[in-house]
Amino acid sequence: MANFTKKEDRPLQRLLPAILEAGKLFLEGYHAPKEVRHKGLVDLVTQYDTAVEALLKERLAESLPDFTLIGEESDGEEARAERAVYIDPIDGTTNFVHAIPFCAVSVGVWEDGRPVAAAVYNPVQNELFTAERGGGAYLNGRPIGVSKEPKLQQSLVATGFPYTKVEMGRDFRWVVASMERLLPHTQDIRRLGAASLDLCYVALGTFEAFYECNLKPWDVAAGILLVEEAGGRITDHLGEPYRLGAPIVVATNGKVHDALLERLADYEEGA
Ligand code: IPD
Ligand code: CA
Ligand code: CA
Repeated sequence: MANFTKKEDRPLQRLLPAILEAGKLFLEGYHAPKEVRHKGLVDLVTQYDTAVEALLKERLAESLPDFTLIGEESDGEEARAERAVYIDPIDGTTNFVHAIPFCAVSVGVWEDGRPVAAAVYNPVQNELFTAERGGGAYLNGRPIGVSKEPKLQQSLVATGFPYTKVEMGRDFRWVVASMERLLPHTQDIRRLGAASLDLCYVALGTFEAFYECNLKPWDVAAGILLVEEAGGRITDHLGEPYRLGAPIVVATNGKVHDALLERLADYEEGA
């Protein structure tokens, strides 16, 4: 792994100007009329998704030249590199289109299969989450940490629904079966609509836990580091270390992790 000694050389410092600039374009789009196209039956994309990604790629190519830039709107979900920056230009596009202020730009920097720097920026609410490996997690420059709640029954749990739900196949059955097993044993469940922010809100201690199936690398590449650096735990549904592309992500404050894993439905057997 590269050794960045000076603060200004570190990946987080190199990506911050780009994400702040991207946030301005994002905010302009949030308040403007939008051209909405469909990538799938209910999977939306606007001209701002592509424009924010293009802007980020242009800026990051200059500030992080040794990294491969992988973005939702211009790369495939299988794309990986030893030194990679995973970009979700607008995470929570459905919220963005409906003017629900829970959406963000998400940028995660990975080296040798692990995250080293991350920024998730919601310009609508003026929330900038940042983390560096070994350096802690921050919201607008203030340190944050996960909730201390030990009981699942007293936990506010976030989740999300994959676009594949419309196929009514394995993902859909798993979502419904997990909800049936889990809901009575939580304080409540939320579906706010942006996975990157869901993870940041676990890091912040707002949610005790978050789980979802079929997320893509750009949805989680940044949020994973926020949760880890805030003292939380991230695994797949089997409790194994989470790897990009795993079918299910489970992120918690650590204390309710095993109890949550026990409640999730079996994905292998198609729920
Ligand atoms: C989506 C959001 C949503 C999650 C979906 C994601 P997008 O990302 O993170 O919360 O449930 O699975 O695909 O499409 O708005 O970038
Ligand atoms: Ca996303
Ligand atoms: Ca997106």
